Amino acid sequence: MKSVKLIFLFCLFCIFSFQVVFGQRNSIPEKVEKLLKKMTLAEKIGQLNQYSGNWEATGPITTNVGNKLDAVKRGEVGSILNIYGVEHTTVFQQAAMQSRLKIPLLFGQDVIHGFSITFPVPLAEAASWDMKAIEKSARVAATEAAASGVHWTFAPMVDIARDPRWGRVMEGAGEDPYLGSLIATARVHGFQGMGLGNLDAVMACAKHFTGYGDVIGGREYNSVDMSLHTLWEVYLPPFKAALDAGAATFMNSFNDLNGVPATGNKYLQRDILKGKWGFKGFVVSDWGSIGEMINHGYVKDSYEAAQVAINAGNDMDMESDSYLKNLAKLVADKKVSERVIDEAVRRILTKKYELGLFSDPYRYSDADREKRILNRKEHVEAARDVAKKSIVLLKNEHQVLPLSKNLNSIAIIGPMAKVKQELKGTWSLNVGNVNDIVSVYEGIQQQVGKTKLLYAKGCDVTDTSRAGFAEAYKIASQADVVVMAMGEQFDWTGEAKSRSNIHLPAIQEDLIKAVIATGKPLVVLLMAGRPMVFNYTADHAPAILYTWWLGNQAGNAIADVLFGNYNPAGKLPITFPRSEGQIPIYYNYFNTGRPAHDDVQTNYPPSYIDLSNTPRFAFGHGLSYTTFNYTNLQINKKNMKKKETITVTFNITNTGKYAGEEVAQFYLRQMVAQPLRPVKELKGFEKVMLEPNETKTITFTINSDKLSFYNEQLEKITQAGEFSLMVGSASDDIRLQDNFTLVD
Ligand code: GLC
Repeated sequence: MKSVKLIFLFCLFCIFSFQVVFGQRNSIPEKVEKLLKKMTLAEKIGQLNQYSGNWEATGPITTNVGNKLDAVKRGEVGSILNIYGVEHTTVFQQAAMQSRLKIPLLFGQDVIHGFSITFPVPLAEAASWDMKAIEKSARVAATEAAASGVHWTFAPMVDIARDPRWGRVMEGAGEDPYLGSLIATARVHGFQGMGLGNLDAVMACAKHFTGYGDVIGGREYNSVDMSLHTLWEVYLPPFKAALDAGAATFMNSFNDLNGVPATGNKYLQRDILKGKWGFKGFVVSDWGSIGEMINHGYVKDSYEAAQVAINAGNDMDMESDSYLKNLAKLVADKKVSERVIDEAVRRILTKKYELGLFSDPYRYSDADREKRILNRKEHVEAARDVAKKSIVLLKNEHQVLPLSKNLNSIAIIGPMAKVKQELKGTWSLNVGNVNDIVSVYEGIQQQVGKTKLLYAKGCDVTDTSRAGFAEAYKIASQADVVVMAMGEQFDWTGEAKSRSNIHLPAIQEDLIKAVIATGKPLVVLLMAGRPMVFNYTADHAPAILYTWWLGNQAGNAIADVLFGNYNPAGKLPITFPRSEGQIPIYYNYFNTGRPAHDDVQTNYPPSYIDLSNTPRFAFGHGLSYTTFNYTNLQINKKNMKKKETITVTFNITNTGKYAGEEVAQFYLRQMVAQPLRPVKELKGFEKVMLEPNETKTITFTINSDKLSFYNEQLEKITQAGEFSLMVGSASDDIRLQDNFTLVD
């Protein structure tokens, strides 16, 4: 009898536990429905409205909405951006708690590459090809931001970009869909951590959906005109990767795509994102982009703009006020169904529940936790780690690098040698202390012993005065080695920063030329958020490090590389052109009917008659202080059926005297296909550490997914035929090659 009672009690316990666990897990949809039923239409519309705080606008102010705190109290605001810090988010959340239904606000912020500790700009981090380091960077940014009351970052920006004239190339992961997809995944995982509801997790936002990186002429906010085939092959994959990684939100883009503004683009937002891909999060417009459909000439007024945007799948209205002003009337006029509004509200409320904001609207606003978490030592170390991994060694003739720490003297010259704030690049936040930023000069100073440091600025970044040249020449002549810190104006990349001329600015190359004339060993550091053109320097400077904008730890990371504490392993995630005239230039091009070969003399040159067809530095390029030898490529079969795989192995040997990492890259080409396939596509890579004389065997696996592509009907297919497989140190430095056939 007793055992029967025990079994009965155990069953009751199981039923109760099931209810608690599964009932709890499934309660969010039920809670959302319950709340939705209580909401008036005005309150529903309020949830779709996002305002910027009044501190710093990250877009043009086009609305005058009066006191935003009062609007929050009236239930007219679902989210606020550009307000961060526990003290300030608390004030706005308290206002939300005065609204009738006490629906908590979402606080959104552009936490693009760090929060209080600034990390390298995203394009720099992409050069590390190190997914762990990139994820860690986003993880630290999220941890700091969440501790300061932020629920949602408008990142990662996953726009593929092949045009370095476009200022926002700095925010993404470069030109390649495969690398860009892996980085999108790493960043979403970094931002969202163990999942929404954890106090160190923030919602990610895959942006800008889509095509924005292909603006015509590289001109900011310009139109985008591309085939749907290119859209699916090149620009969509990183967004799909971000969605598969669990990105909670998407942001659409300012551009029109083939004549339809992304914000009002049903094909993108409903057919692809919410339909084919099954996205369950919500879509926010980019700043004012709903209202900007009037400027586009796509709608005649704000009323039509709101109608088009909500029906096309844009859930939240950032800063255009179009939804607040028009949706009620649109429903009354039966131009918008309340069902469509309910769907958008559901998506937004679901995220607020998942973040735990209904159970505690202030859970992210703990002043003590904010103090404990910002600027932690381990976070500073993470910033230094990813910064040094982001540096790309473009040239190193006569082994100028690494430098000895026992030199008598080093001349440090250039306008970037002592800058601090600039090292953060754009899309950095005014959090943290500028004194925590390590300049190039300070980084070198902290690493050299008795070596005497000589300094001259030499010139400004953009000024054309040569008054400083003499002093620079003088100290260069006196020193054992010269380090020049040069670069682009720090705020010449980012939003609204397209440049028609991407040369190293003003007279900086003249200063480099003057210093080269001293004949001293010279290292040039180049800082920028984009590829620049610097042909004289590329041809004549013996050693060049591309150091991007590396954030707080720039000086330490650069010194780590200069003195060999860290052997650089960065690889370019984007092609560097010889001239703006070559743009767009990228590695995964089609062969064409008259392939461009610089070494073939013909009356019909398949390139420019006045310039080589090759880039200055290719996608995947990056040197090391050591050398690597690739040998013994083996594939386990020459013919592969669709459901089979091919295993590719090869050896890499460190043939130099320094331990170092190599990013071995794996490319494929389908020799004959319809439609065409590029001359090569990155399909894998491995970053491997090797001691001097050490050899490791690397393995890549080819499956049909790596061979698939979109046909003219935009179906993902594979086609039988011959493939070339290539392994190398860069897209233009292929070391091993073989081929195989995919058979039906
Ligand atoms: C900006 C940017 C977008 C950013 C948003 C909020 O205009 O286009 O990337 O997240 O507005 O600041």
